Amino acid sequence: MVVRNICCIGAGYVGGPTMAVIAYKCPDIKVTVVDVNEARIKAWNDEDISNIPIYEPGLEDIVAEARDRNLFFSTDIEKAIDEAEMIFISVNTPTKTYGLGKGKAADLKYIELCARQIASVAKTDKIVVEKSTLPVRTAEAIKSILDNTGNGVKFHILSNPEFLAEGTAVQDLLNPDRVLIGGETNEDGFVAINALVDVYANWVGRDKILTTNVWSSELSKLTANAFLAQRVSSINAISALCEQTGADVNEVSKAIGMDSRIGSKFLKASVGFGGSCFQKDILNLVYIAKSYGLNEVADYWEQVIKMNDYQKRRFASNIVKTLYNTVSGKKIVFLGWAFKKDTNDTRESAAIYVADDLLNEEANIAVYDPKVEKEIVYRDIDNLNTRTSELNRKHIEVVNDPYEACKDAYAIAVLTEWDEFKTYDWQRIYDKMKKPAFVFDGRNIIDGEKLREIGFVFRRIGN
Ligand code: NAD
Ligand code: UDX
Repeated sequence: MVVRNICCIGAGYVGGPTMAVIAYKCPDIKVTVVDVNEARIKAWNDEDISNIPIYEPGLEDIVAEARDRNLFFSTDIEKAIDEAEMIFISVNTPTKTYGLGKGKAADLKYIELCARQIASVAKTDKIVVEKSTLPVRTAEAIKSILDNTGNGVKFHILSNPEFLAEGTAVQDLLNPDRVLIGGETNEDGFVAINALVDVYANWVGRDKILTTNVWSSELSKLTANAFLAQRVSSINAISALCEQTGADVNEVSKAIGMDSRIGSKFLKASVGFGGSCFQKDILNLVYIAKSYGLNEVADYWEQVIKMNDYQKRRFASNIVKTLYNTVSGKKIVFLGWAFKKDTNDTRESAAIYVADDLLNEEANIAVYDPKVEKEIVYRDIDNLNTRTSELNRKHIEVVNDPYEACKDAYAIAVLTEWDEFKTYDWQRIYDKMKKPAFVFDGRNIIDGEKLREIGFVFRRIGN
């Protein structure tokens, strides 16, 4: 079967870039990305390409080339479903905030809505692809909805989890380590799997396209994120020990990373991992393990989250302790609010939690991030419901000029590893600050020796 028309439900961080790359690489396939969020679709269609709603290096060029050629963004979900042979579900699957599994399980209400909408609209056979990250065995629930409320048409369900990381999404999509496709292990299943393999084979080597059964594919995605997050928590745990013993986490990281069995990637100690995926997916894994009575398995993975929470708290409390046990009324500058560099995404960013702790200590915070808008910063901190939004606005200012932000500041905390922070005129910053002037590098990116020569008191993670 040759696919000529694809629909993707969900025009977010995954749906947008993924479909843009498919359209870019497969000019013969019409790709329509739909979303209920009108503002988001409008932004994807904005004539000024710099206004597309997601910032990713290289994405503007890809969208500019494919948009209105074979890539379309629309709010007409029914039409797109009706026309497509293959439908990707790429909607959000956040942690449940209510009811059974609250705080752990994935909230699948948006997935179910998509399944019901596909079932009610479809008049021809469809391949439905799970692109969202889902608990293992979700395909079973989707199939049950589709088969019981459909119009007698056939549905084939595939799992095709997305492994892109934000900030490098375009590169990850153009050159993936692997593409994973899970499907039913019967003749119909193989036809569906091969149809999707052929789409990716337009630019990905077939040796990198891995096919499995549906459950392995679903579980592999949660497992990959759990393993990655576990590495960050492991090195962060060691960073706390380094700070007590005179070892340097950068040196330890390098020393262990040169062991080819361990490998050097994902061993950067930090203020804690953030992002929309790691915490959510591990919590989900913990919930699934518990639901099968596998309590030891659940406890094992939950520790990765606990260590991350500890790291964020530890960073904030180190600031308070170093500033003579009080930050009340003191201005502290945050360089960075995004959860990592090269993205405007702030979901679960460590900066939010560090800010919350420091606001509890009555600090005043000035936030500078090259890509994050003011309203997002306030939204993030308001969402914690720790204090009134008036109080949050009183104690946090969001600024456009990092140098101005540092005027009369007592300390600077580096929360995101944006490259520009490395090349600032630190002497100019020092001159504007209260003395002693402190810098807390939560990303280990700043040249500490240089800053110490200028006169800063410089602290970093794991040193
Ligand atoms: P997102 O919140 O950026 O985008 C999801 C979009 O789906 C939103 O624009 C929302 O309006 C839309 N939507 C929700 N319900 C809808 C419906 N019924 N009909 C039409 N549109 C609907 O989320 P995201 O970051 O793109 O993540 C999507 C999925 O991909 C999640 O399961 C996530 O775990 C997974 N994932 C994310 C990343 C990442 O880096 N962000 C990487 C891999 C996998
Ligand atoms: C992650 C996975 O990497 C990706 O495969 C999956 O599809 C989605 O989740 P993402 O969250 O976008 O991607 O970014 P990632 O690069 O994994 O970083 C996650 C967090 O860990 C960031 O806050 C980052 O700063 C932090 N991190 C990462 C570290 O603190 N140290 C490291 O060594 C690596």
